[in-house]
Amino acid sequence: MPYAHITGWGMAVPEKVLTNDDLSRMIDTNDEWIRDHTGIRERHIARENEFPSTLAVAAAIKALQVANLKPTDIDLIICSTSSPEHIFPATACLIQDQLGASRAGAFDLSAACTGFIFATNMAAQSIRSGSIKTALVIGAETLSRFVDWQDRNTCILFGDGAGAFVLQASDQPGGVLSAVMHSDGSGGDSLSLPAGGSRFPANEATIHEGKHYIHMDGRAVFRFATRVMGHAAKEALELAGLTTDDVQWIIPHQANYRIIETAAKYLKLPLDRFVINVDRYGNTSTASIPIATVEAIEKGLIKKGDKIVFVGFGAGLTWGALTADWTGPLPTERRVHPESYRTWARVRSWLLRVARLIEGLIWGRES
Ligand code: ACO
Repeated sequence: MPYAHITGWGMAVPEKVLTNDDLSRMIDTNDEWIRDHTGIRERHIARENEFPSTLAVAAAIKALQVANLKPTDIDLIICSTSSPEHIFPATACLIQDQLGASRAGAFDLSAACTGFIFATNMAAQSIRSGSIKTALVIGAETLSRFVDWQDRNTCILFGDGAGAFVLQASDQPGGVLSAVMHSDGSGGDSLSLPAGGSRFPANEATIHEGKHYIHMDGRAVFRFATRVMGHAAKEALELAGLTTDDVQWIIPHQANYRIIETAAKYLKLPLDRFVINVDRYGNTSTASIPIATVEAIEKGLIKKGDKIVFVGFGAGLTWGALTADWTGPLPTERRVHPESYRTWARVRSWLLRVARLIEGLIWGRES
């Protein structure tokens, strides 16, 4: 049975930064309150021309470069997102087109901030089963578009960004070792975006009632998160036959510094074994785990052979954890530059649109 290795990684965040002081000029809040209650100092916010797919493609190109792969090597693209560009088509399909990943099947996965763990596990299981060899897993969000900028309970928390992993099959032991995935739909109301789906299609009334914004019972989510984070990490470790002593790094979902502190206490681990960057990005939802991973790698913290636990929680409610034996890129002689495929991807996309137009005209004439 092949192993599923994490062989590439990349991240992208919008250039625009919104600090706590900027927020204090917009609403009744202040830097001290936000830092004390969440650990957040600033977050990146997408400009009008930036979307989950824009950020995702930038992150994916970096991940492919690390793995030394071309977009056409990808068999499967899973985009985990809570801020998809449309209900359909899937944001993953937009990414597939923009990358020119012509061989890949692509779909979105919706599990809120836990999504990246669920998506990585799904990709790893597809590789382990032998049905695919190479997967691109992306967490991409522009939740700033769904935040009520007058609601100080929520607008201080979220930031935009994307992170990507490439997973590849190899006979060499290692890679993804175990995962646990949990859900409790009875808690769905504590964190939701009520309107815009088929239950409450967007209309004047839903907009008037603010149902197209994120609604959150912050204290309930806090209680839930502190209850499940450490427990899920332990479960995944046990499944892999590991203990916390074997682990070099815990990479948690970056929602709130105090939630991470509580998980550290539960696991009886010092906080310096946790990768934490919530101060500079806020809660980027499903993108937070890959963004934290990429930063840790770039700082030289994560090394070949390290055992890592990824752990997250989010709306749904959902929570989960995944353990990995870090191996890095697989050895290869080939040198490829995914960026050079961008032009080809645009030409290919344009040609396919023209072909569909011509096909439509021919069918119209025949019928
Ligand atoms: N600035 C100043 N005061 C504020 C602010 C603010 N931005 N926000 C709330 N307050 C006030 C409240 O009104 C309240 O005042 P009151 O006592 O007079 O009513 C007081 O501060 C305390 O409010 P709490 O809600 O008790 O504050 P708490 O310490 O719980 O922090 C927070 C709130 C940060 C939202 C916290 O509960 C939290 O992090 N919860 C988890 C949220 C989360 O992680 N969500 C994302 C999940 S992942 C996903 O799927 C997207």
